[in-house]
Amino acid sequence: MRVGLAPGLRVPRHRATTAHLCAIYPFQAEPGFGARGVYLGTDYVAGEGAFCYDCFQLYTDKVITNPNMIIIGEPGSGKSSFTKCLLYRSVGAMRSPNKGPRWCAIADPKGEYNLLAEALGLARVRLYPGGTDRLNPLDAGPGAALLGPNAVSDRRTAMVGALLGAVLRRDLSPLEDAGVGWAIGHLPTSPIGPQPGLADVARLLADPTAEMVERAGCTKDDLIHGVRDARFALGKLLDRDLRGMFDGPSTVRTDWSGRGLVLDLSAVHGNRAALRLTMIATTAWLQTLMAFPESADTPRRYQVLDEGYVLLGDEQTARYLETCWKLCRLYGVANIFIGHRLSDLRSQADDGTATAKIAEGLLADTQTRVIFRQSSDQVELTQKALQLTDLEASLLPDLEQGRALWKVAGRAAVVQHVVAPGEWIFCNTDSALAV
Ligand SMILES: Nc1ncnc2c1ncn2[C@@H]1O[C@H](COP(=O)(O)OP(=O)(O)OP(=O)(O)O)[C@@H](O)[C@H]1O
Ligand SMILES: [Mg+2]
Repeated sequence: MRVGLAPGLRVPRHRATTAHLCAIYPFQAEPGFGARGVYLGTDYVAGEGAFCYDCFQLYTDKVITNPNMIIIGEPGSGKSSFTKCLLYRSVGAMRSPNKGPRWCAIADPKGEYNLLAEALGLARVRLYPGGTDRLNPLDAGPGAALLGPNAVSDRRTAMVGALLGAVLRRDLSPLEDAGVGWAIGHLPTSPIGPQPGLADVARLLADPTAEMVERAGCTKDDLIHGVRDARFALGKLLDRDLRGMFDGPSTVRTDWSGRGLVLDLSAVHGNRAALRLTMIATTAWLQTLMAFPESADTPRRYQVLDEGYVLLGDEQTARYLETCWKLCRLYGVANIFIGHRLSDLRSQADDGTATAKIAEGLLADTQTRVIFRQSSDQVELTQKALQLTDLEASLLPDLEQGRALWKVAGRAAVVQHVVAPGEWIFCNTDSALAV
């Protein structure tokens, strides 16, 4: 086939077969996600155009059906820097029509968001055993009156179950499970007035009420004996490793007219078991804080779990996280989960077990996936779990620092995230290693 020249164009005549010519197809670049969002970097699939993103805008435009985001990548690939820039620009600059400015809450296991907090004006809370700041994960929260007493008790039961499962490293026995539920059923659910705490649950397990004994259908001594392990497990939070962090009235006041808060958990970062408990209790408290149904002045909120994989250690905790995830649509909260690799989601379980299924459910409820560099041994699993094309999968081991493959509701982008000069102050985590 001969390709003729348009009049006036000085291009040499070119001959090729139709088999080859069909590859010359104009306008092949991806259109990106539009300009309504914050600028994040350069999109190599969209002709090196600007890449902008806003989960709430895409949700409004019905491109995605949930605003959750999962970010994975090898250590040092740029996950936290990207998250900080996303928050700095979204919370710092964006407003939603009728909803006012954005708000964010960050669970920060490494204590690396403090400079972002300073730059953005976020409140900072440093939790450490014996410290002055304290969160009560049983707080009824601002939405309790609207959600009703059953929802408050169910949330508390799921959270205490997750804490106990993590301490005991096993599922609760039927009697323990029921005993905890009965004890929590005795606690007041009003958000006004003194809030019950974990010590009240421990007290009720040590000295059950007549109603609890009757429901158990055994003697009081048998009930006390049957829930003894659960009571001792609560002691880990009350008297031992995490004393003072979660065992009394919350000392943190939330300022909804501000921009958000950072919960610095770095004091327990070196102790994996303690970190997991801290993350469960912190997430519970955050969820309570976020869990109020939308109203005209509810700000659009982000909940960030950096190193969130520590929550996926067992079924109880994973199930608890799944519940938190599912509620995002109801409450207008975008969850951002940061981990190293997808196999973290399955590390405690073989395929097909309950934990792996929950992890898959979590992934299904997360339509924005941002994948930074992955080692070669992770590529196959990542490709399968995220349904990547062969070409997309082949990019993963070679992605440079700060560059990621984005998959958003089936669409793809390869983005080099751009850190602005004024943002390096909170993005640079290399100072401990650099010469
Ligand atoms: N977009 C970028 N462009 C250039 N360099 C970057 C970019 N993002 C991050 N870096 C560099 O990479 C370093 C590590 O980034 P970051 O702390 O975000 O990694 P990470 O993936 O969160 O690591 P970890 O898993 O250890 O938490 C930063 O200190 C910065 O120097
Ligand atoms: Mg990081």
